[in-house]
Amino acid sequence: MELVAGHGALPPASGSASATGAHAPVEGARAPVRHVAVQHEPTHVGSAGDDASQAEADRIAQAVGAFYERHPYPAPVDDLERYREFWDGPRRRADACLFHPVDPQREDHSILVAGCGTSQAAKYALRWPRAQVTGIDVSQASIAATARLKNRHGLDNLELHQLSVERVAELGRTFEHIACTGVLHHLPDPDRGLRALRDVLAPGGALHLMVYAPHGRHGVYMLQDYCRRLGIGTTRDDIRELAAALGLLPAGHPLAPLLRSVRDFQDEAGLADALLHPNDRAYSVPELFELLATAGLAFARWLRQAAYLPRCGLLAASPHHARMAELPPEEQYAAAELFRGSMVEHSLVAHRDDYPRAARVTFDSEAWPTYVPVRLPGTIVVQERLPEGAAAVLINRAHTFTDLYLPIDAEQKALFDRIDGTRTIAAIAGSDASRSTARNLFQQLWDYDQVVFATDAQASSHDTYRRDRP
Ligand SMILES: C[S@@+](CC[C@H](N)C(=O)[O-])C[C@H]1O[C@@H](n2cnc3c(N)ncnc32)[C@H](O)[C@@H]1O
Repeated sequence: MELVAGHGALPPASGSASATGAHAPVEGARAPVRHVAVQHEPTHVGSAGDDASQAEADRIAQAVGAFYERHPYPAPVDDLERYREFWDGPRRRADACLFHPVDPQREDHSILVAGCGTSQAAKYALRWPRAQVTGIDVSQASIAATARLKNRHGLDNLELHQLSVERVAELGRTFEHIACTGVLHHLPDPDRGLRALRDVLAPGGALHLMVYAPHGRHGVYMLQDYCRRLGIGTTRDDIRELAAALGLLPAGHPLAPLLRSVRDFQDEAGLADALLHPNDRAYSVPELFELLATAGLAFARWLRQAAYLPRCGLLAASPHHARMAELPPEEQYAAAELFRGSMVEHSLVAHRDDYPRAARVTFDSEAWPTYVPVRLPGTIVVQERLPEGAAAVLINRAHTFTDLYLPIDAEQKALFDRIDGTRTIAAIAGSDASRSTARNLFQQLWDYDQVVFATDAQASSHDTYRRDRP
C-alpha cells in the first residue's frame, strides 16, 4: 500500500558501522572512514539554559539519535548507478547555476552534507566527482550504509564522520556548499544547529536547507498525536498495523492527499519518519526567516520559487494581487504560503549575511542582459491544446501546484528557442528593440522555475555542458 512521509522526494538507504572512536575505519569501506568525535554521550544543546531545559534538550537529542539507529532514513539502497546516469552534464550545469550562479563552471567545491542519512552524501560524491564531499550524521547505522555505497562505487572523494551538526566545527574547516535537508527540524535546538552550519559556511558559499512547513502537514501532526495516544511504537508489527490502518483513513482526512501523493509513505522508513518521530517541528515562512536571521544567514531564493510569488499562477489572477505585490518579498511569501495552504516543506538557498548584494540574480540592475540562461531539467514545452494566443505552454514538472504553468506567445517562443546554455540574454534578444520583451520573458522564466542563470558570462564556455549536449 501507499503510505506518507514527512518530506517529499528525498534520497533512500542503512546498516551498522563500528564506532570505535576517532579515525576508526568503518567495516567494508575501501578507504578508511574517519569517525570524528563519535558521540555516545548526549549532544549538549541549549544556550546556557537552566538544568531542566538542558536535560530536556539532551533527552530529545538522545531520543532522535536512538530513533535513527533503529530507523535509518531513507530506506537503504545497494547501488546508485542509475542515480549517476541521471546526473548528466546539463543537470549538473543547471544545479551549479541554481546554487552558485557566479561561478557555475566550478565542479570542485568542498561540500558538506549535514545529517546525511543513508545515501545523500554518497549521491553528492557521485554526481560531483571532482568535489570533496563530507557527510556527517549522528546515526552510526546511517554512516555505515553510506560507507557501503562509498565502497560499492569507489568514492574516494567522500569522507564520513559520525558527528552531530552542533559539533561540525570540530572538523576544523569551512565548506563552499552545505546541504542540510530534513534534519534541522528534528534538533532540540535548531537555532544552534543552523548557527553551527553558518560558522562553517565559507564566504560566498551556498546552503541548501529544507525544513518542514506547518499547514500542509496538519494531517501528519494529527496522526502523530493519534499514534501517541494509542501508544503505537516503532516495532515492525506496529508499523505494519499502522500502514494497514492508514488504508482505512477517510478520504476527507487532512492526511489523505499526502497519502496519495507523497512517495515516502510507501516504505517503513518513510512511514516511521513521518508519523512516529520523537521530535519534529515545522516552520512557517515568517518563522523560517527568523531562523535564518538568528543564524546570520540571508535568504537567496526558494529552490522552486513560483509557488511563493504573487506574479505566478492563480495569485497573479487574484483580486488581491496588487495588494500582495506591494508587500516586501518576505511578506509576499508568507501570504502565498497561507493562501496556497498545502505546502509541506520549504526548500531554499541561503548565503552568509555578508554575501554581496551585487552577486545576486536580479532584474532590477543593469546586469541582467549579461546573464546566460540555462534551462532547468524537468521543464517541458507543451504545444497542444494551447490557450488562445499562446505558441507554447511551459511547465516545470517538479511543481506540485497545477496552476503554475506559463503560456508564451510566438515572439517569446522565438526568444525561448534561442536558449542554448551559452548565449547571454543580450545575444538572444539581438536587437535593442527586443530588449524589453526579453527582459519580461526572462524574468518570467526565472519566476516560473524554467531557467536559472550563469551570471558570469565566462561561464558560457562550460566544457562539461558542451560535451554532454545532444
Ligand atoms: C530525515 S533524515 C534526512 C537524511 C538526509 N538529509 C536526506 O535528506 O535524505 C534525518 C537525518 O538527520 C540525522 N540527525 C538527526 N539529528 C542530528 C544531529 N544532531 N546531527 C547530525 N545528524 C542528525 C539523522 O540521524 C538522520 O539521518
